[in-house]
Amino acid sequence: MIPSQAAYPATRFRRTRQSPAIRALTQENTLSVGNLIWPVFVRDGEGVEEPVPSMPGVMRRSVDRVVEAAREAADLGIPAICLFPYTDPAKKTRDCAEAWNPENLSNRATRAIKAAVPGIAVMTDVALDPYNSDGHDGFWRDGVILNDETVAALVKQALSQAEAGADIIGPSDMMDGRIGAIRQALEAGGHSNVMLLSYAAKYASAFYGPFRDAVGASGALKGDKTTYQMNPANSDEAIRLVERDLREGADMVMVKPGMPYLDICRRVKDSFGAPTYAYQVSGEYAMIQAAAQNGWIDGERAMLESLMCFRRAGCDGILTYFAPAVARKLAGA
Ligand code: PBG
Repeated sequence: MIPSQAAYPATRFRRTRQSPAIRALTQENTLSVGNLIWPVFVRDGEGVEEPVPSMPGVMRRSVDRVVEAAREAADLGIPAICLFPYTDPAKKTRDCAEAWNPENLSNRATRAIKAAVPGIAVMTDVALDPYNSDGHDGFWRDGVILNDETVAALVKQALSQAEAGADIIGPSDMMDGRIGAIRQALEAGGHSNVMLLSYAAKYASAFYGPFRDAVGASGALKGDKTTYQMNPANSDEAIRLVERDLREGADMVMVKPGMPYLDICRRVKDSFGAPTYAYQVSGEYAMIQAAAQNGWIDGERAMLESLMCFRRAGCDGILTYFAPAVARKLAGA
């Protein structure tokens, strides 16, 4: 007999859902604070916490306040914090030199966090967009994003981040060949322990809008990023990109955005078994917060459910603006 025909009443799935104790015993996945990376925005000044209007609850913080935030995160058990600079428009140029300035905001914040809160891992972002007067992740000339020239600049940027003390470097630029080039430069520069979390499958997405506001890149951007970020219609290509980046020296890989791309997370995890992360991006965060603020959904439950779904899809961890809120919730606070 075909088992499914024999199933009921021998198999009653509702038996496994009958009480909190039984549901706990039959739960397949878990979400814990160790799965979280918290992205934070850094700006200049002192004692400044400036709300980002399109991301309710998210701040741009001056370096001293980022250090405080890192301390709070470490106390909550969050293993890593990821820095994104809001650069003074006057420092954005076509040559993007601020990107590898040892004294740029990201590098100053990294050094300050590593000095004050050595236990938290610092992740940094490699891409030219916060420093580029054209708003792109790479050099722009006559309407074309230049790949190899950009990679040379990204290597300088990554080295300056490693020298500032970054534990994990996250190339988010989507140029070809940058993982290998950065890995070689890190090895040659005595930074063989610095990890690379490649934004390997990063899609050209409408969900990055609020982030571009947060880092002040919205106004600057000429055109779109479709010649370097992935087509949302593609899936096989994500597998090929992840394979390439792992071969070039990535320690961990990322799928971005998160919620609309859970199928990609699952394929990546099943194909390679590598440490796989998803970025629940600014637009995903903004949607949940906006609906919650309107009383249309229970924001806290939606937050926890959305993050559990990443675990179910095979992700080892999630970059999420909800990190401190989730950590507090998981701690029962
Ligand atoms: C760019 C970068 C982006 C994000 C992280 N790094 C935006 C973009 O590609 O335009 C988006 C993160 C988010 O939306 O939360 N290097």
